[in-house]
Amino acid sequence: PVALASYRPAIHFTPPHGFMNDPNGLIWDGKVFHLYYQYNPHGTHAGYVHWGHATSPDLYNWHDQPVAISVSEAGQAFSGSVVLDRHNRSGLFPQLPLAHQEAADLKAAIAAISGPGAASAFAQNKASQDGEGGLVAIYTRSRPHSQTQFVAWSPNQGTTYLDWPGDPVLDIASDSYRDPKVFWHEASQKWVMALVQARARKVSFYGSADLLHWRHLSDFGPAGLRGVDYECPCLVELPVAGEGTPGESQTRWVLFVSINPGAPLGGSGTQYFVGDFDGERFTPENTLLGLLDFAKDCYAMQTYNDMPSNDVPGGAAVYLAWLSNWQYCNELPTQGWRGAMTLPREMRLRRDGEGWLRLVQQPWQLERLREAPLPFRAHRLGPMERAHTPLPANLAVEIEVTVRLEQGPGSQPGRFVIAFVNRGTATMPGEELTVGVDLQTNQLWLDRSGLRGYSQPFFTGQFSEALPAGLERVELRIILDASTLEVYAQRGMCVGTALVFPANPLNGLELRAENAQVTVHEARVWPLRPTMA
Ligand code: FRU
Repeated sequence: PVALASYRPAIHFTPPHGFMNDPNGLIWDGKVFHLYYQYNPHGTHAGYVHWGHATSPDLYNWHDQPVAISVSEAGQAFSGSVVLDRHNRSGLFPQLPLAHQEAADLKAAIAAISGPGAASAFAQNKASQDGEGGLVAIYTRSRPHSQTQFVAWSPNQGTTYLDWPGDPVLDIASDSYRDPKVFWHEASQKWVMALVQARARKVSFYGSADLLHWRHLSDFGPAGLRGVDYECPCLVELPVAGEGTPGESQTRWVLFVSINPGAPLGGSGTQYFVGDFDGERFTPENTLLGLLDFAKDCYAMQTYNDMPSNDVPGGAAVYLAWLSNWQYCNELPTQGWRGAMTLPREMRLRRDGEGWLRLVQQPWQLERLREAPLPFRAHRLGPMERAHTPLPANLAVEIEVTVRLEQGPGSQPGRFVIAFVNRGTATMPGEELTVGVDLQTNQLWLDRSGLRGYSQPFFTGQFSEALPAGLERVELRIILDASTLEVYAQRGMCVGTALVFPANPLNGLELRAENAQVTVHEARVWPLRPTMA
């Protein structure tokens, strides 16, 4: 079978070695993007959790950094977030040049946490840091029977963090109280924290002016799906596409809640509520709950704090999620490493045909990685026709297809199928991974059950979502990158994310009409420039 190395994605972030789960501390600090992540550097199973770290100029080219927060006597370093305390409102950052002894103490503390490399980075960076604020992490320390929130400040632009001596900053004597996501709430001029009382299935909101004193604001939940634990809440203001006036877009607040176990498809999944946040309380505007993804491998999403603004005031809402599921994350057939992040995704809301505000998502600035498109043409596919192109080896590919579909003659349901295939070998039959649209049931589907690289009872194969009724055109955008597949349909209204483990590389792409007439308005295939060295 396959060289296992080929399971490692070319444009999705993966840890150098060891086990990775949730993204943490996502922030643009004015110079680089930080990605911290739940990390076991000592093995390929969950546990012994540190904060791993990588930095990037563009959310695609990642540079590995030393561990930023380690396991300590206070417990494992569970999920959390990072904010930029630009004006040193916390008072955590030294205002005067450090005395020689203080600097030496800090350096020793950093070396003890993250090794001599980090300590010398500290020495180099210190000069520019004095007298200003900097990055502050707010995260959970977890030990048997206790989960509490910690605040930690970085003396070296995010390379390492030092716990505040007053920690824990929040302690309610609970063993299921975690995952603080903190952001600056401009309207009420304070930091807001969302965190979970996991077993009570509640999201609690707190407010603070200095990151050290927190006032309880309100609680939300249980709501929508219950499951066993609520985890990794994320509250974010999103623009409503096409509504409002130029320069002033309509917005809504959206609350995302990750659930594990007990997601509708099994194991982990993420629900969201659309509503309003007045600085104290989140109020959903209806009882509808949305699901972030129609497949199984998109969990613990978190948005970037302080995104640079381009066309969106306040910066685009861009998130990363863990591309896995607690049902099988510890057993995946990768070697030496486990866990991948999704591509960075930008979110908005759009009103669907029935008037509901729905989440829409697109990969963020992926166009930058496109190489010359493959010479692939397809205009019209009659009832049993197919168009085929070989795919380049070891590269991520992006496919964009827009088609019009009509039922063909005969009673068999008409379908349009995009298939990633291989012919197999003398000892191994061919495989295929498909994404398709079924005309009779109006469903978009994703089917990984034709792959043979991995099987496990919970690693189910088929996922689907109903497309908006009465579709004129089907618009699909698909990214296949080694063991990851992302599907964005109808300009991001239906998104599916799946781990995929073929036994042999998928080296062909087919567009097929099955009992359908397919008019191809557009079909383009781009190899994507690798960004993960
Ligand atoms: C979510 C989660 C969080 C926790 C972390 C531990 O996947 O269970 O609730 O902080 O992972 O690694």
